[in-house]
Amino acid sequence: MFDQHRLSVLTDRYAGVIGHRPTACVVTFGCQMNAHDSEKIKGVLAEAGFRLSDQEESDFVIYNTCTVRENANTRVYGRLGQLKNYKKDHPHMIIAVCGCMMQEQRAAAELKNRLPFVDLVFGTFNLDRFPVLLEQTLINRLGNIHETLVEIYEKEYAGEADRLPSKRSFTFKAGVNIMYGCNNFCSYCIVPYVRGRERSRTKEEIMQEIKMLHQDGVKEIMLLGQNVNSYGKTLENPVSFAQLLECVAAESGMERIRFMTSHPKDLSDDLIRVMAENQTVCKHLHLPVQSGSNRILKAMNRRYTRENYLALVDKLRKAIPDLSLTTDIMIGFPGEEERDVADTIDLVKQAGFDNAFTFIYSKRQGTPAATMPGQIDGETAAARFNQLLEAVHETAYKRCERFVGMTLPVMIEDQNRHQEGWMTGRTEHNLLVHFPTDSCRIGSTVPVKIVESKGFYLIGRRV
Ligand code: SAH
Ligand code: SF4
Ligand code: F3S
Repeated sequence: MFDQHRLSVLTDRYAGVIGHRPTACVVTFGCQMNAHDSEKIKGVLAEAGFRLSDQEESDFVIYNTCTVRENANTRVYGRLGQLKNYKKDHPHMIIAVCGCMMQEQRAAAELKNRLPFVDLVFGTFNLDRFPVLLEQTLINRLGNIHETLVEIYEKEYAGEADRLPSKRSFTFKAGVNIMYGCNNFCSYCIVPYVRGRERSRTKEEIMQEIKMLHQDGVKEIMLLGQNVNSYGKTLENPVSFAQLLECVAAESGMERIRFMTSHPKDLSDDLIRVMAENQTVCKHLHLPVQSGSNRILKAMNRRYTRENYLALVDKLRKAIPDLSLTTDIMIGFPGEEERDVADTIDLVKQAGFDNAFTFIYSKRQGTPAATMPGQIDGETAAARFNQLLEAVHETAYKRCERFVGMTLPVMIEDQNRHQEGWMTGRTEHNLLVHFPTDSCRIGSTVPVKIVESKGFYLIGRRV
């Protein structure tokens, strides 16, 4: 834990220098886990006495970076350039950068040399140190020391940031980390290097956090991990993910339970049973396939074949007929040929995905795929990507239409930003529904009749 009093005193002194209560803006570049870390960073800043803001013209700005694809890095550098200009006119400003990109030694060193106006740099392995690092940064600033404070741990360790305060983005839904890191080493992926080895939290710790969220009015939780299906294997008293999910469904009091991400290689029959038997477990599964070509799947080190994947989909659909299935697909992996793309498109059609996140392969230094022969040029990859996108759109549109005419429970998320008097909610299948209404509480669940499908979202009417 951190010394909140000491931190507040420093924040007050900083406020005295700048003449107002300092504002802080936390920008998330990455996945759900990154967003979850940002909530912790916000929690610490709020308790320290900062006023949280969405504006990057704040006194304290922190970028929580992602490095899964090169364009995530490029965006960070671009945005830092803009911050530099702003800081010229606001020299009191504090800029921090953390997250997965910083956990790559190379990137952190580069940042320190190239961007000396950054005040604080830390990685994912020492997120729990943020309160102490913030303290030191404020001390530096108050003492007019303008050196970049860099703290990056080389190894992940057990002390995670679970106990830091948190400022959730939503009142009614929350993410809960059940595990950290990844041991799968898919040949293209940087995540195992920047998030470390797999480690699971105990069931007791997780249940305690979920019960507190429930008391706090949370209705929906998302259990988070890079590969939730291998949850619990490293615990002293091993627990399977299916057992954990069953326990959460039975004891948490949550209306909706989601989880992310599942790896197809170890999705168990037990998990399918728990999903089918428990009403509160949402009938939505995100099951990244990456490719429909056996040759490419092997080179990716995914450890399943297209036949395994399609058989799994079949089994899932039989057990849970109403299931929404989404996936991640990558195009342009080294050595890919037209026939591999055709195999992937064929799998998209056969599996009938409700939606897919599609990516162009991005070379990550230090991963095995980076040095594989047959790297695909940008133009070829882009053309293949468009082909894939067309197939994904076609199946997604078809799948979305199946809801028209049905009345579905919709959890209200927000006022509709484009149409006055409309609200936006989500079905358990993770589809957004927009509908007109004059009274609806955010976080409440109401029955909505679906009147139109827009392909990736729905239009409804209150019943
Ligand atoms: N743990 C999750 C995914 C984490 S990263 C899983 O195994 O599914 C999210 C997605 O980013 C991946 O599913 C993959 O499709 C994509 N991705 C990962 N590395 C990538 C790379 N080097 N280039 C392009 N896309 C990548
Ligand atoms: Fe990356 Fe594969 Fe781990 Fe997912 S399972 S994080 S794609 S290495
Ligand atoms: Fe990106 Fe790190 Fe998530 S690399 S995808 S933010 S785990």
